[in-house]
Amino acid sequence: MNNRIAVVPGSFDPPTLGHLDVIRRAASLYDQLHVLVVHNPGKEAMLPIAQRLTLLEQSVADAGIEGDIVVASWSMGLLVDYATDVGAGVLVKGIRSQVDVAYETPMAIVNRHLAHVETVFLLPDPAHAMVSSSLVRQVAALGGDVSPFVPPPVARFLDTGSREN
Ligand code: PNS
Repeated sequence: MNNRIAVVPGSFDPPTLGHLDVIRRAASLYDQLHVLVVHNPGKEAMLPIAQRLTLLEQSVADAGIEGDIVVASWSMGLLVDYATDVGAGVLVKGIRSQVDVAYETPMAIVNRHLAHVETVFLLPDPAHAMVSSSLVRQVAALGGDVSPFVPPPVARFLDTGSREN
């Protein structure tokens, strides 16, 4: 496995400015970055996975993030199976607060035990520390303006009301 290849996994439902901040930082640290949309059965989804992929691709391009970035999805098994398949030795996660530390720590330890895949935590820009997909989903569902919290392609998509579900 290669510690110069990393995976940034998440639900990305929808992608937020916080996600993009982590992707930008991770892209500058690794030779190849896989941004992976993972189906989380514990969460009720707003957007289909294909739509999240499209929005992530558009957002990464719109932000001008440079580097070898692969946007993909995974719903066939363990996250570490994907990492192993693509030769990635590192998972990158953004940590906004102690709540995130408590949520992420057991997963990081389990993933290390499962496949010797390490997890690297990045601290986001404080400007994005309070942004979460669940808050964006709530604001969007109630007709509020989500543009301060999401990349322009996501804001445009949510604004046009063209969501499929
Ligand atoms: O954006 P999210 O919802 O916080 O992302 C959570 C996610 C998808 C990264 C997490 O649920 C996950 O890693 N799922 C993959 C399933 C898996 O491999 N589980 C066992 C080890 S934790």
